[in-house]
Amino acid sequence: MPQKTKLGLIYGSAREGRFCDTMVNWAAAEILSDGRFAASHIDPRDMETNSAEIGRNLDEADAFVIVTPEYNHGYTGALKSLIDAYNQQWQIKPVAFVSYGGVSGGLRAVEQLRLIFAELHAVGIRDTVSFANPWNRFDSAGALVEPKDAERAMKTLLARLHWWAVTLRDARATSSYFEAAA
Ligand SMILES: Cc1cc2nc3c(=O)[nH]c(=O)nc-3n(C[C@H](O)[C@H](O)[C@H](O)COP(=O)(O)O)c2cc1C
Repeated sequence: MPQKTKLGLIYGSAREGRFCDTMVNWAAAEILSDGRFAASHIDPRDMETNSAEIGRNLDEADAFVIVTPEYNHGYTGALKSLIDAYNQQWQIKPVAFVSYGGVSGGLRAVEQLRLIFAELHAVGIRDTVSFANPWNRFDSAGALVEPKDAERAMKTLLARLHWWAVTLRDARATSSYFEAAA
């Protein structure tokens, strides 16, 4: 059986009472059922006490999924602090986005994150999963009430993410990205 691809599953909100937990739990279940990834949860709430461990988890990951809300048409300060605290851990790796918010479904935050990750030599995956007004779409156990469309979108996202994760892991092992421009 091939080794699972290590994936960093990142919380985009650190707010008390955040909806992000529901969203991350949904994403984690989808990632588990895909079967090709081993996910570790990375939470900006842990930055103060566990920054070194977060760094190790980011370092070991070959792919990332960021679960982001939209705050004032952007992403959160907590997420930016987490991104900025690391550098080479992001480089030459794929990043995919699951977003949520009001009518925009958090997509304005995603568009901004694409710019940030381009600067970090990371590859933003084109396919997203976006939830507009998700507050009443999950039951009390955290299950999505009408899951089909989101599950289909997440399958596509994970398929593309896996392709990039394996491709870039092999590329990092066989040739130096930075030397190519030396
Ligand atoms: C400071 C702040 C700004 C917000 N701005 C937006 C916004 O611009 N667009 C939007 O769709 N939702 C906005 N919201 C609503 C959030 O999408 C909603 O509160 C969501 O649950 C936030 O994620 P969290 O609960 O995981 O922190 C905002 C919420 C906060 C707290």
